[in-house]
Amino acid sequence: MKEEQTLRKPEHVAIIMDGNGRWARARKLPRLAGHRAGVENLRRILRAAVEFDVPILTIYAFSTENWDRPADEVEGLMNILQDVIDHELDELHKNGVQLRHIGRLEKLSPVLQEKVQHAIDLTSNNDTLVLNIAWNYGGRDEILYAIQSMMEDGLSPADVTEETFSRYLFTAGIPDPDLIIRTSGEMRVSNFLIWQGAYAEYYVTDTYFPDFDRDAFRAALDSYAARDRRFGRVHST
Ligand code: FPP
Repeated sequence: MKEEQTLRKPEHVAIIMDGNGRWARARKLPRLAGHRAGVENLRRILRAAVEFDVPILTIYAFSTENWDRPADEVEGLMNILQDVIDHELDELHKNGVQLRHIGRLEKLSPVLQEKVQHAIDLTSNNDTLVLNIAWNYGGRDEILYAIQSMMEDGLSPADVTEETFSRYLFTAGIPDPDLIIRTSGEMRVSNFLIWQGAYAEYYVTDTYFPDFDRDAFRAALDSYAARDRRFGRVHST
């Protein structure tokens, strides 16, 4: 049964939401308009995830490298996160969305850190959909942080198994992604879930994230359903 489920329906889908800037440029709009359109689209994707029975969705919203963008874009993205918490949290909570975060909160403003923590605490018992937001997240940073934490805890080399290591990652308790979608055509991992994605299926579409709608999401899930996942083994049938 479990094997059948992993073959057909992903339990955990992760999305690299790329192309907001190009979407905006194609319309002669500022880049932040593209990010706002991305948030608009996220609403559609959340509804679609519930409709298609995807229980866990991770989105790559702000990477450790995104700090190198122009200051006004970084500030604009932080404001978007704050706006979403200020204006959408009640609705998300009412709809049973459990908010989680991966990455480092400590570099965010104290006010924003508090708001994110409040959102996580408020929604922690919801079970319709887990929305895991990667914000100030980098896969290499996550791995270094896990190693540092294991050393601080005094683990011996023999204790460092894949299971133990996974428990030290920001994604502790969340199964590895089955499907990683990247919008806007780039064939790159971009430091996203590099440990957890070891056996993920990848799906890349040319569509910019603001246009990656319900039907485009459905197409990604259909592609996943047709894959033959072998996890390094030969097929069992
Ligand atoms: C990539 O497009 C997108 C981002 C770096 C930011 C995505 C963030 C959001 C949609 C906001 C999400 C908000 C919450 C609260 C979860 P790009 O700017 O790299 O596009 P480009 O490659 O076309 O320039």
